Amino acid sequence: MRREWRFGSSPGPPGLLPVDPRVCDAPRMDDYRDVNLANWNDRVAAHAASPDYAVTRFTDDPSFLSEVVSFDRTRLGDIAGLDAVHLQCHIGTDTVSLARLGAKLTGLDFSAPALEQGRLLAAAVGVEIEFVESDLYGAPDALGRERFDLVYTGVGALCWLPDVGRWAEVVASLLRPAGGSSSARATRSCGR
Ligand SMILES: C[S@@+](CC[C@H](N)C(=O)[O-])C[C@H]1O[C@@H](n2cnc3c(N)ncnc32)[C@H](O)[C@@H]1O
Repeated sequence: MRREWRFGSSPGPPGLLPVDPRVCDAPRMDDYRDVNLANWNDRVAAHAASPDYAVTRFTDDPSFLSEVVSFDRTRLGDIAGLDAVHLQCHIGTDTVSLARLGAKLTGLDFSAPALEQGRLLAAAVGVEIEFVESDLYGAPDALGRERFDLVYTGVGALCWLPDVGRWAEVVASLLRPAGGSSSARATRSCGR
């Protein structure tokens, strides 16, 4: 039994500190997904305008790649013609960069405003990308299993997920079985 009492009730047992009800109303850990989603929705406008994401450079320069994908480029090898999915794609700057390397891209994220920004960017630079709204753990249902040659997730994505083991299961289920001419690859950016 929790040993606490609230302001406004009769005096509690001696020796126990009062609990401020505002603390009790604060988001709890089981609200994690909602709090995290609200946080990412909030960041979209600021990121779209931020020089760090360099959105205008994509429209100014058709060969421009994001810093994240530039970093990963040698690890990725030749991705031209691959069916690729970018998990937790955010506002699409890395997704567009992967498309510029020749892959056929799908971007997935649970933030609707982030995806909207991604669609605007893709349209502005003239690349065809399907942006799908889904929780990461719902990706196999939202996208279909064994559909992709490459699953990509960039730096700063995994840390927002509560279960990395389940993330790996999602990645495995999205990849086409290796063999024959297919080259199933999962790539995670290591940092910069
Ligand atoms: C830092 S951003 C992606 C990193 C990427 N390198 C970038 O900066 O564009 C993290 C993304 O993860 C998404 N995200 C967090 N938790 C998620 C979940 N459970 N399912 C789907 N997307 C999620 C957020 O909406 C956000 O767009």
